[in-house]
Amino acid sequence: MNLALHSPLDMHLHLRQDEMLDAVAPLSAKYFAGGVVMPNLIPPINSIERLLWYKAEVKRATAPYVFEPYMTLFFRSYTFSELEEARRNIIGVKLYPSGITTNSEGGVQDLSLIEPTLSMMQELDIPLLVHGETNGFVMDRESEFCRIYQLLASKFPGLRIVMEHITTRDAVVLLDRYENLFATITPHHLLTTLDDVVGGLMNPHLFCKPIAKRPEDRDALLAAALSAHSKVMMGTDSAPHPTNMKESHGCAAGVFSAPIALPLLAELFERHNALDRLQAFVSSNACRIYRITPREKEVRLIKQSMIIPASYLSIVPMWAGYEISWSFEA
Ligand code: NCD
Ligand code: ZN
Repeated sequence: MNLALHSPLDMHLHLRQDEMLDAVAPLSAKYFAGGVVMPNLIPPINSIERLLWYKAEVKRATAPYVFEPYMTLFFRSYTFSELEEARRNIIGVKLYPSGITTNSEGGVQDLSLIEPTLSMMQELDIPLLVHGETNGFVMDRESEFCRIYQLLASKFPGLRIVMEHITTRDAVVLLDRYENLFATITPHHLLTTLDDVVGGLMNPHLFCKPIAKRPEDRDALLAAALSAHSKVMMGTDSAPHPTNMKESHGCAAGVFSAPIALPLLAELFERHNALDRLQAFVSSNACRIYRITPREKEVRLIKQSMIIPASYLSIVPMWAGYEISWSFEA
């Protein structure tokens, strides 16, 4: 059995910089027609100058491939002219609550101060991408943040708001309640629960923010993805860290999945008789929501088993060493 995907897109992706960028960017660019590139570098991508530098870096690192980097700016209070100037080079502005995840120390400390920037983004029709977690108890952070999603969605009805990497039933429910709320879902949150992270021997390569939740949360995400709910998009949140940062005391948050995301999804969607929905989940929904038209790129998968590599240039992917039933066609 084969499957041809047209211009698959990764709507949430960490490509890093320097040697890490050079190592991971080709692994996304080979299998995707484009990706939404996250701005949480050190220092963050929060000026036009840094944005243009980073875009050029990503283009350099993905050069041999058809791959469109959809860039994001790291949220801060911007002026209208800064946003107006950035607009043609970004797909959105990414908001991180301060300190909530990897490299987010420069994020928002006081949510009451973000509104002037949000109303300018609304006026300029620039989407807001949000890492939606409070600093509460780790399992409740996203559900607690849903209150803030609701406030923002109703206060800025013309602003497209993307709830990034949702992990809870509570977030799925909001999709049908607010016209301007959308979401990305990762492959790992469709395939794992907290049990896989810490229920047996601890698996640092599945440790990420937001942490995987309960089976009923995973099932709500699955229902949305497998039905290709018109407001959800696939975003891997592939977030590489050097092995010594993962397999260590103080394990860094982030799951590396970009090079295997599509075979993992093909296996999952086939198991649920939903292969005909995969195109919408990995591309068409995103094109409609973000109003983008990626270049045509056919990515072919085949039902032929593969063993997930132990590492890619020393970065350990999720499920390293597992056998899965789909792979890329040679
Ligand atoms: C991401 C990273 O490493 O940059 N980590 C993660 O656990 N997902 C940041 C993020 O998206 O939260
Ligand atoms: Zn991320």
